[in-house]
Amino acid sequence: MTTPEPEPTAEQLRGDMVRQLVDTGAARDPRVVDAFRAVPRHLAVPEVPLAKVYDAEFAAVTKSDDTGVQISSVSAARIQAMQIEQAEIKPGMRVLEIGSGGPNAAYLAEMVGPDGEVVSIDIDPEVTARAERFVKATGYRNITVLTGDAEDGAPEQGVFDRIVVTVQAADIPPTWLAQLAPQGRLVVPLRMRGMTRTIAFVRDGEQLVSADYQLCGFVPMQGAGEDRMRLFLLHDAPGEEIALRVDGHPEPDTFALARALAMPRQPVWSGVTLAGGESFDPAEFWLMSALDNLPLMAATPAARQNGLVANASPLGVPTLVEGDSFAYRATRATADPDRWELGAIGHGPDGERLAQRLAEEFRTWDRDHRDQVATITVSPAGTPDDRPSAGRRITRRHSRITITWP
Ligand SMILES: C[S@@+](CC[C@H](N)C(=O)[O-])C[C@H]1O[C@@H](n2cnc3c(N)ncnc32)[C@H](O)[C@@H]1O
Repeated sequence: MTTPEPEPTAEQLRGDMVRQLVDTGAARDPRVVDAFRAVPRHLAVPEVPLAKVYDAEFAAVTKSDDTGVQISSVSAARIQAMQIEQAEIKPGMRVLEIGSGGPNAAYLAEMVGPDGEVVSIDIDPEVTARAERFVKATGYRNITVLTGDAEDGAPEQGVFDRIVVTVQAADIPPTWLAQLAPQGRLVVPLRMRGMTRTIAFVRDGEQLVSADYQLCGFVPMQGAGEDRMRLFLLHDAPGEEIALRVDGHPEPDTFALARALAMPRQPVWSGVTLAGGESFDPAEFWLMSALDNLPLMAATPAARQNGLVANASPLGVPTLVEGDSFAYRATRATADPDRWELGAIGHGPDGERLAQRLAEEFRTWDRDHRDQVATITVSPAGTPDDRPSAGRRITRRHSRITITWP
């Protein structure tokens, strides 16, 4: 009779997770690696199996709202490491974490050391109670947990060297800039026309200028700054729903677009290819910055299986909309089994022209921007616009976001 293998311990699983973070490049700075080796993150979510807590890609969802939207979690370790790398935290710093959970505040506390300080604020008292329990269980003395709406900043907490936002924001409230030191860094998952990137901003006077941005997913902001994307259904048969996710884009003519969806597909291919494991992210980020009316089309797997759309993604694929027609990003296999060609599928009277436009933008990206990094600048809304338009603009309530390419 063989004896069953003993279950791996939390320490063993943590070692595996740290190796995963190093191998994927999520943790590069040895101090970040040490922080992830030190924190017993499983104590924050005792209800979750150890192997999951220490899976670098696993986010432990702790709360959903009445409509099923996830509103709180302990983020995946890979995303936490990525943001902490972006923040470039030095010993002795004061760091504000927006959105609590426990483990991320502990990583930040490891980074600032005993002479530094971490303040973590969350709008939800159940979340802060969980974070408080974690801080008590782990014994960190340099973490303060507060309950409040971070739209108002962390009143009476003074100025921070770093602010790390761990909830998806569509805007930058003035309080965040006011509480950030000159040359301080703000790391924030910022949603721009439906696409969220965690961006490391450096404060330059009243502006924030990006130093780095990375693909990510986060639960949406609640409270006074809540600004969720709107969903417009193009096809509502149960199980095979297709909808446009709209984020400050013009309201779509859903009746006309639903009719267009029922019309034949008009595919157009760009000649631009991606390698098998290569991300769509840079090409899609270019599209977002180049085209104003580009909401995301989300579809269920059944909608694809039943031939209604060529792509199914719950998050959505970039879709160019104009009046009664639209075209969405698509891919097809090429003669090279390891490469995919980018293109678009049009629908409606103008569908082919819109698909041509997307294909043209893929060619522009490939020719001029494929290896480039954009600069994202945030200025307070209403800042006099004295310079000639230097980039694409997104206007939010508090701020103006500008995306500039080299
Ligand atoms: C992904 S969780 C935070 C995870 C945490 N940083 C960790 O240890 O991984 C996002 C949190 O943001 C909080 N949140 C949402 N809107 C907020 C707001 N306006 N002010 C403060 N917290 C907010 C939610 O309650 C949720 O707990």
